Amino acid sequence: MVDATDPGEETVTGVALTVNGQPVVVEVDSRTSLLDLLRENLELPGTKKGCDAGACGACTVHVNGRRVLSCLMLAVRLEGADVVTIEGLAPGDGRLHPLQAAFVEQDALQCGYCTPGQIMSGVSCIREGHAGSAEEIREWMSGNLCRCGCYLKIVRAVEQAAGEE
Ligand code: FES
Ligand code: FES
Repeated sequence: MVDATDPGEETVTGVALTVNGQPVVVEVDSRTSLLDLLRENLELPGTKKGCDAGACGACTVHVNGRRVLSCLMLAVRLEGADVVTIEGLAPGDGRLHPLQAAFVEQDALQCGYCTPGQIMSGVSCIREGHAGSAEEIREWMSGNLCRCGCYLKIVRAVEQAAGEE
């Protein structure tokens, strides 16, 4: 008889992927999420854990150029993937990414907890061509929650960065 409360056998698997331009090989439990891989195994705490259930957007990162909720993605499925987190977004020469700079200029953060996910989503929103108006930005950023209520300024920041592209 199957015990429905049994979390299942732990299986450890080696995964080779690229994170922020660096090749990485890690041993992961088959149940480990990409979010936990980043925060716990790779010590990249910029990606935030809010709900851990796909509802808040705090954990948004890019996988193969597309935004994903890292709490919902299993690390074992990332063999060969290219992952970019908030730590890897800036060009690396001391300058911020244009959307990071726009967040600062528009004062689009208070506690900043939601900010990494908002920025990773905002970059995709612009890349996907969904930043044509404030309404469109709101719609395509609606999966990212901000407890501090900075939405107005976040939308302005995305508009600013989209206008600079
Ligand atoms: S932590 Fe992933 S959506 Fe909330
Ligand atoms: S700035 Fe605090 S949750 Fe968004």
